Amino acid sequence: MSRSLKSLFSKKFGGEPDCIVRAPGRVNLIGEHTDYNDGFVFPIAIDRDIRIAARRRRDEEVHLHSVNFETDTVFPVDALEKDPQHPWADYPKGVMAELTKAGHTLSGWDAVIYGNVPLGAGLSSSAAFEVASAYTLSLINEIPFDSVQMALLCQRAENRFVGVQCGIMDQFISALGKKDHALLIDCRNLSYRYVPLDSGQVSVVVCNSGVQRGLVDSEYNTRRRQCEEGVQLLSEAIPGIKALRDVSLEDFETHQRLLPEIVRKRCRHVVAENQRVLDAVHALENGDVEKMGRLMDASHASLRDDFEVSRDELDLLVDLAHASEGVLGARLTGAGFGGCTVNLVQCDAVEAFVRQITEAYRKKTGLSLETYVCAIAPGVGELEG
Ligand code: GLA
Repeated sequence: MSRSLKSLFSKKFGGEPDCIVRAPGRVNLIGEHTDYNDGFVFPIAIDRDIRIAARRRRDEEVHLHSVNFETDTVFPVDALEKDPQHPWADYPKGVMAELTKAGHTLSGWDAVIYGNVPLGAGLSSSAAFEVASAYTLSLINEIPFDSVQMALLCQRAENRFVGVQCGIMDQFISALGKKDHALLIDCRNLSYRYVPLDSGQVSVVVCNSGVQRGLVDSEYNTRRRQCEEGVQLLSEAIPGIKALRDVSLEDFETHQRLLPEIVRKRCRHVVAENQRVLDAVHALENGDVEKMGRLMDASHASLRDDFEVSRDELDLLVDLAHASEGVLGARLTGAGFGGCTVNLVQCDAVEAFVRQITEAYRKKTGLSLETYVCAIAPGVGELEG
């Protein structure tokens, strides 16, 4: 695509782009709804990405062309407003707004944008677009690119300009992913550790339920509030806690009666999920992929029963995966309410698994299932040629 993106750029704007940048989407292996609770997550960057071919302009205008939406938008660098005709442009606009706020002066730019991260599927196309935009703008304007700071800036763009109160996971993995490695992130202090995933032994297979993530924004914000309420109530008994990250499983057991039922369930998920992430990293580092799979199964059950962010199609996909040979673990991935499941599958079983689950899902729901066998890609970077 980078060659054809280059020729699309020439057709649209004449001449060559200064750079072509790609930033990956992600799949979270385990650690769901933990990032905004100061907890742990364990995602991979995948070989599905957003690409931007771009060139600096001599004036202060921005000309963007979206290949996917077959549309153009033009706006000045100093009047960044949401445009309901072009909601896709909110992502680079949000990043530009944050870069400007951080004291950088931005020139105008021309760009052609293409992505193959499925939209609304929970694979973080938005974060990929933000991170690709930040990297492109850094190159064009000669701003030093610090990966962690850029991830934070992109999260602010999403929180403030786009208006979604997401945590840090998606932008962080898109900026810092590493080929053939999963990334353990401590979302409190943003320290991180790469853990190799042996692609000769196990594959990560994503199944896209085809059900768009309805309700995700309002329900996501409700979950955040319930977690905060839990911290407040628990802090009466466990002084000094700032987030659910600070609550151990033992403390939770002892003090859970202080919580109303719904809040109790939400908190139980987060407290247990944090421990599962650490156990999963430990398992993978010891080559115990069966254990890793069992932890993924437990994560799904907890997201379904306690955090209540699953839905029938996702539960069905997980059940079908369990009935298939060579599947070590399966769970919903991302915020929930639709989107995708992630499956850890023994390499030699992948083909049969994909065939069986596609057929069974179609029979039960009438829906056609998209599956992706993911390669673990590096984080954001420039493409040659
Ligand atoms: C979305 C958010 C992330 C994270 C997940 C749930 O993907 O963008 O920050 O909260 O949901 O784990």
